Amino acid sequence: MDKARIGIINVTGYAGVELARLLSQHPQVVLTSVTGRSAASQRLAEVFPHLIGTDLVIEDKLGDVDLALVAMPHKESSREVLPLLDRGIKVVDLSADFRLKDDSEYTNWYGIAHPAPQLLQKAVYGLTELYRAQIAQTQLVANPGCYPTGAILALAPAVKRGLIKADIVIDSKSGISGAGRSISLKGHYPEANEDTTAYALEGHRHLPEIVQELGLLQPSQPPRITFVPHLVPMTRGILTTCYAPLTSKLTTDKKGKEELKHIYRDFYKDESFVKVLDSPPHTKHTSGSNLCLIHPTIDTRTGMLVVISCIDNLIKGAAGQAVQNMNLMLGLPETTGLEAIAVYP
Ligand SMILES: NC(=O)c1ccc[n+]([C@@H]2O[C@H](COP(=O)([O-])OP(=O)(O)OC[C@H]3O[C@@H](n4cnc5c(N)ncnc54)[C@H](OP(=O)(O)O)[C@@H]3O)[C@@H](O)[C@H]2O)c1
Repeated sequence: MDKARIGIINVTGYAGVELARLLSQHPQVVLTSVTGRSAASQRLAEVFPHLIGTDLVIEDKLGDVDLALVAMPHKESSREVLPLLDRGIKVVDLSADFRLKDDSEYTNWYGIAHPAPQLLQKAVYGLTELYRAQIAQTQLVANPGCYPTGAILALAPAVKRGLIKADIVIDSKSGISGAGRSISLKGHYPEANEDTTAYALEGHRHLPEIVQELGLLQPSQPPRITFVPHLVPMTRGILTTCYAPLTSKLTTDKKGKEELKHIYRDFYKDESFVKVLDSPPHTKHTSGSNLCLIHPTIDTRTGMLVVISCIDNLIKGAAGQAVQNMNLMLGLPETTGLEAIAVYP
């Protein structure tokens, strides 16, 4: 059988170029078309010399493909996605445009009416570990945000098994590439280097996505989430620490801690990319890989659940997860092209 032809819309952003790197090494598909406004007509390997070996030229418009990975900023993305769907092309959208199920929530957080609200129920939220069967059947996957990926995977077993009460605190620290490749003051070297700061205290746009997905895991107890993101001076990686009071399902002693670990290991026992560790993970342990590493524990003094997760925001938080979803949509083994282990140190 011929290999599926894959296209990338917006290869000139960080998520797009990471997709190009993963797909150029993928053994079961062929990257045939890439677009990028600022570099149209240039050779991909000239614009990004680490991709030496590909002879693709960056185009204005996507050529004929079987599946497209769209890595545009939100609002711009749906403009690209809708015509692709009309052409019968399968799409993984890396933006936030199809992640929220409720179009009024989209309007609240993104400030415009959704251009195709009828698609919000049809699009499948692309957190592979939770929606594997639906992803395999759909034409449109809404790839999760980077912060939600680390936070939802960290909390899903505890929420699903009713181990915690509704009040959850999520504290995340992200590398600067999470803000994208477009130039901004906060990513400017003298501003970001040797600096750490919290931001979006009035509400980050990834919050409704986390609330939506944790709410679906435990509909009887809608979560009340305080989410505070931070920027830290590293290029990639997200470290997330989640805190929540335990219900009476677990004891707050050594036995409870062991049981908690057992529940997490059991929840993720069949997952290739989610691993439960006995000690807190480092962002360096996931850099360049599609892994999410999780360490769940209990603060025995306060009876609080504490769960720490690490991902690479550009891999499991973006391009790697998109390829994982693409594999499922094409009927390929989920791990194909994603076997690379992290770069350490
Ligand atoms: N960075 C991450 O860690 C991450 C993680 C998960 C999801 N995502 C999502 O993935 C998408 C891409 O993110 P990114 O981080 O790769 O962004 P990025 O590096 O900032 O890429 C943005 C690129 O989009 C192009 N662009 C900007 N405005 C445009 C417009 N109006 N029309 C056409 N092109 C435009 C620009 O390319 P040209 O200069 O060529 O015009 C720019 O380089 C976003 O929706 C983002 O939320 C990112």
